[in-house]
Amino acid sequence: MRTFPPGFLWGAATSGHQTEGNNVTSDYWQREYAPAGTVPEVSGDACDSLHRYPEDIALLAETGLTSYRFGIEWCRIEPERGHVSTAMLDHYRRMVDRCHEHGLTPMVTLNHFTVPRWMDALGGWRHPHAAEMFARFTEIALPVVRDGVPWVCTINEPNIIACREGANLPGVAPVAYGMARPDQRVSAELTRAHRMSREVLTGVPGLRSGWTVATQAIHPLPGCEEQAYAYSRPIEEYFLEAARDDDFVGVQAYTRTFVGPDGALPPPAGAETTLTGWEYFPDALAIGVRNAWKVTGGVPVMVTENGIATADDDRRIDYTRDALTGLHEAIADGVEVHGYYHWSALDNYEWGSWAPTFGLIAVDRRTFRRTPRRSARWLGAAARANGLA
Ligand code: BGC
Repeated sequence: MRTFPPGFLWGAATSGHQTEGNNVTSDYWQREYAPAGTVPEVSGDACDSLHRYPEDIALLAETGLTSYRFGIEWCRIEPERGHVSTAMLDHYRRMVDRCHEHGLTPMVTLNHFTVPRWMDALGGWRHPHAAEMFARFTEIALPVVRDGVPWVCTINEPNIIACREGANLPGVAPVAYGMARPDQRVSAELTRAHRMSREVLTGVPGLRSGWTVATQAIHPLPGCEEQAYAYSRPIEEYFLEAARDDDFVGVQAYTRTFVGPDGALPPPAGAETTLTGWEYFPDALAIGVRNAWKVTGGVPVMVTENGIATADDDRRIDYTRDALTGLHEAIADGVEVHGYYHWSALDNYEWGSWAPTFGLIAVDRRTFRRTPRRSARWLGAAARANGLA
């Protein structure tokens, strides 16, 4: 039996836009429905979790999991600049309360990729006062997290946001594989936003805050160590270094990236790949966790996302077991890890496509019927045992 530390959190994660449905005041919705849009599939009703969250929470608790990470949507809470929806604050507070009623520890993400349309129109994270806007939103959101929310993620994967903005810069050619060079101005503004948000949150007793970083498990080809570091530093280490004073650092890991003389490379020929086209590589988690621990100089780690898009649920179990085995080894080697959140609780909207199924729980897109998979029961059993058999 591989036992995890006492109080280790076993959870699953979702984001607002990917599950709630009809997130019409968000920038992403606008992009989805833009006449000359480039987003292949729209989110629509998503999983209707806006109304069905009580069922989502109950199902997670029934499996045996002990925590739920979910996002709150800035664009619902502040649909117009300066207009705050008390009803939506109440809604998200009810989600927190519902978690407690079911014995789940809530973890709340303040920003998971989407921003209000009004903020996007002002330039989004490129605006010179984006950080102030986000800090203000953090203050507005305090009633949701002020009491009984021990873990708050400020910004989800700032490194992915900065790379997306980098790819949109004029004159930037699309990368063949991997992540685009981040827009450094956006990286800096996100860092400022995170710090200002944390200043607000630090006043709340018992609340620990941090941000979550998409780790890449970089593998240099022989002789390409320098190129690999040049690729990795602005997209991973920069964001981990910025977490050095935080209460925790969120690690998100899915796959690895090879780097050759000309940059990132696709998975090697013949490698098993998942429904997102990523290499099946469960060790990515332990690599990401160890790197975060090293680069932050010992900031406690929370695995805020790890999972696999697959139609084969047995493969999901294999992947998760192997990822958790590597995580257990990292803990045995002294890395302080407080919990593991599987991505995702539900099959949900994968930013432009419904094809990659990441869920522990299957969702029928027409009826919204939820069906927990065997993997949900498997992870729930690990949670109950606080370990792997
Ligand atoms: C994001 C999720 C996304 C998942 C799988 C992470 O980058 O936080 O929103 O669905 O990976 O792609």
